[in-house]
Amino acid sequence: QPALRFNGGGHVNHTIFWTNLSPNGGGEPKGDLLAAIVRDFGSFANMKEQLTNATVAVQGSGWGWLGYDKKTSMLTIDAMANQDPLQSTTGRIPLLGIDVWEHAYYLQYKNVRPDYVKAIFDIVNWSNVSERYENAM
Ligand SMILES: [Fe+2]
Repeated sequence: QPALRFNGGGHVNHTIFWTNLSPNGGGEPKGDLLAAIVRDFGSFANMKEQLTNATVAVQGSGWGWLGYDKKTSMLTIDAMANQDPLQSTTGRIPLLGIDVWEHAYYLQYKNVRPDYVKAIFDIVNWSNVSERYENAM
C-alpha cells in the first residue's frame, strides 16, 4: 500500500504538474477562477502569497496545492508530504500543484526553494488551472 501510494501518487501529481506549466505561462487567471480566488482569498496576490508560504514550508519533500473543495464550494491551499495525492488524501480536487522535491529545482536553484517557488508563477498555465476549476465545479 505505501509503495502504491508513493508511485501512484507520484504519477498522478506529475501528470497534473506538467499541464499546469507552460513556457508562455504567467500573469494572472481570468474569469470564474479569478472571481473565486478573489472571493476566497481577497485577491490574487493574497492567494499567491498563501500558496507560496505553504509550499515553501513543506518539510522535506512534498507538494503545495491550490485545490477545490466540493463540500464547501471553496478554493483551498494544502501542503502535502512526499507524493501523497491531494484528492485521495483530502477529498479536494487538485487545480495547481507545485513540486518541491529537491529534484524539481536543485539544478537551477540549488537549495533555495523560495526562489524556485517564486519563479514558478512566471510559467503557470492559468488556462489549464481554470479548465480544471470549471471541471471540478
Ligand atoms: Fe517531481
